[in-house]
Amino acid sequence: MSKEKLYEGKAKVIYTTDNPDELLVYYKDDATAGNGAKKGTIMEKGILNNKISAFFFDMLAENNIEHHYISMPSEREMIVKKLDIIPLEVVLRNVAAGSLAQRLGVEEGTKLSTPVLEYYYKCDELGDPMINQFHIKAMNWATEDELAQIEKLGLKINDIMTKYLKTKNIDLIDFKLEFGRYHGKVILGDEISPDNCRFWDSETHEKLDKDRFRRDLGNVEDAYKEILHRLTGEKA
Ligand code: C5P
Repeated sequence: MSKEKLYEGKAKVIYTTDNPDELLVYYKDDATAGNGAKKGTIMEKGILNNKISAFFFDMLAENNIEHHYISMPSEREMIVKKLDIIPLEVVLRNVAAGSLAQRLGVEEGTKLSTPVLEYYYKCDELGDPMINQFHIKAMNWATEDELAQIEKLGLKINDIMTKYLKTKNIDLIDFKLEFGRYHGKVILGDEISPDNCRFWDSETHEKLDKDRFRRDLGNVEDAYKEILHRLTGEKA
């Protein structure tokens, strides 16, 4: 399989494959926070996030959500459909935490009456600024129709994931999605893992996600392993 490095991000490397319609994603152990201000390694994170993401993509497919995941040739690699990425980070929130708790001046853990969907412009140099539908349309980052699809998909994915995770005793506090165009459709891309979701144990409210790294809470690897274990039964 021909492999030309196309892009190296903070947590993943993207390679071409023999198929022009597909890419290979390599999941690294590198972790960053605060837009690169804090750097570190989370042992085996690449393997855990690859497996956790594949699990979520399969689960979402069973619920009729189209995504880019095709197959997992190795523990750290995923073959995906090559999308024309829409430069947005779409954040869904059910409980105030992180930047929303700060912005609104409410305590972390405050339940939101309805889910909140936010858009951020995917741009490292600018620190992913928060934007709204008007900015997106004015900058031609997505059309009105694409935005309607993204909003519908985002809310539906939030609903499916929240209900599913509840059966695993996990509260889905918030998470980030990315979408891309593929043969005229908007479909789900990127990853779904403890790197870009906040997962809290439903009973103890223990954080089982990257906040353990961001906030130096310790037991980072164990939290990622616990998520994989609760989802798949696999002990990493
Ligand atoms: O930092 P904030 O509270 O805005 O993050 C909301 C959610 O989006 C969290 O689950 C976080 O992991 C995710 N996120 C992300 N990538 C970013 C910003 C936020 O995955 N660049």
